[in-house]
Amino acid sequence: MAETIPIGSDHAGLELKDRLVETLRELGYAPEDIGTHSAESSDYADYAHPVAEQVSSGAARRGVLLCGTGLGMSYAANRHHGVRAAVVWTPEVARLAREHNDANILVLPARCLSEAEGIEILKTWLDTPYAGGRHDRRIAKIETEEV
Ligand code: RB5
Repeated sequence: MAETIPIGSDHAGLELKDRLVETLRELGYAPEDIGTHSAESSDYADYAHPVAEQVSSGAARRGVLLCGTGLGMSYAANRHHGVRAAVVWTPEVARLAREHNDANILVLPARCLSEAEGIEILKTWLDTPYAGGRHDRRIAKIETEEV
């Protein structure tokens, strides 16, 4: 069965998000497009929370978010337990976000990327496994009781 990947954006990420939904389908995934669906101004947190909730609960293994800079989406998504939402701007950062940081949400800064760059980053992030080893210890230290 195709892996479901929740994907969301605000208005600034809409165009690239729609393209990445198509790309995910072409690659054999089952994208769940949670919006936005119009170019009207919208609030990134309204899309970040539902996607992050699915990853945090285990309903989805990974998700994708887009906004203008990627920052607002990452702030909101990273508030969810177990979520590691990485803002990624090159395929090399995508590779490292997977290998070293086990990023389970890809966040794209849509206003800073071409369509081709966004697609290449998505493909690299999807295909790169987590390296484990010393990175397990480092990731375990991220979530402490209270900070
Ligand atoms: C929307 O104008 C913009 O602020 C938003 O997409 C994002 O960049 C916020 O982090």
